[in-house]
Amino acid sequence: MTSHKTARRAGALLGVLLAFASGVANAAIPASSKAVKDDGGKYFDAKGDPTYKISPDGKVDWYTFSGFRRYNGTCDVCHGPDGAGSSFGPDLTDALKSLSYSDFLGIVSGGKQDVNTAQTLVMPAFGTNKNVMCYIDDIYIYLRARSDGALGRGRPQSHEDKSKEATDFENSCMGP
Ligand code: HEC
Repeated sequence: MTSHKTARRAGALLGVLLAFASGVANAAIPASSKAVKDDGGKYFDAKGDPTYKISPDGKVDWYTFSGFRRYNGTCDVCHGPDGAGSSFGPDLTDALKSLSYSDFLGIVSGGKQDVNTAQTLVMPAFGTNKNVMCYIDDIYIYLRARSDGALGRGRPQSHEDKSKEATDFENSCMGP
């Protein structure tokens, strides 16, 4: 038993554990998801759709973090933790690979049903639920990062501060 071999193995294991714990995935981020505009800490891609921004150290933008919290508590009941799917609802990390931002908005606000002889799958309509609709971009941004493999499972370790713009929007959307 050579001790340096053991140490190297322990080091490799530690590296794997650290990468896992920090929730940072290494997959190349698609160019289409790249943030090209920053509007008060909210990022947009070249098409003008909301997107995430994640630093090399794993620090996420405010909306990705907010979306993680909003997703968990409403959507995870059916779509499973981290968007990974369950027997009640499809894997959203997979679904977002082919759904556009406007498809996503339409399905979440209007719902979706797949009823056949074998099964009844119902996605409820959240269009009148402010706790979802006021944070729909947050949820989209979070799921987009998950779908691209830019963000691992679990709670993001660190995040940018909430901007004044985010607070103002939240107050006006949620109302008094
Ligand atoms: C009561 C269970 C339930 C909840 C809660 C729920 N969903 Fe769904 N969702 C479903 C089911 C079932 C489907 C599949 C419907 C179908 O195939 O027609 C679905 C489909 C979807 C789709 C379309 C997937 C695709 O491949 O086309 C999106 C996007 C989606 N849900 C997002 C959300 C988001 C975001 C939330 C939280 C705000 C949420 N869902 C909450 C059950 C749920």
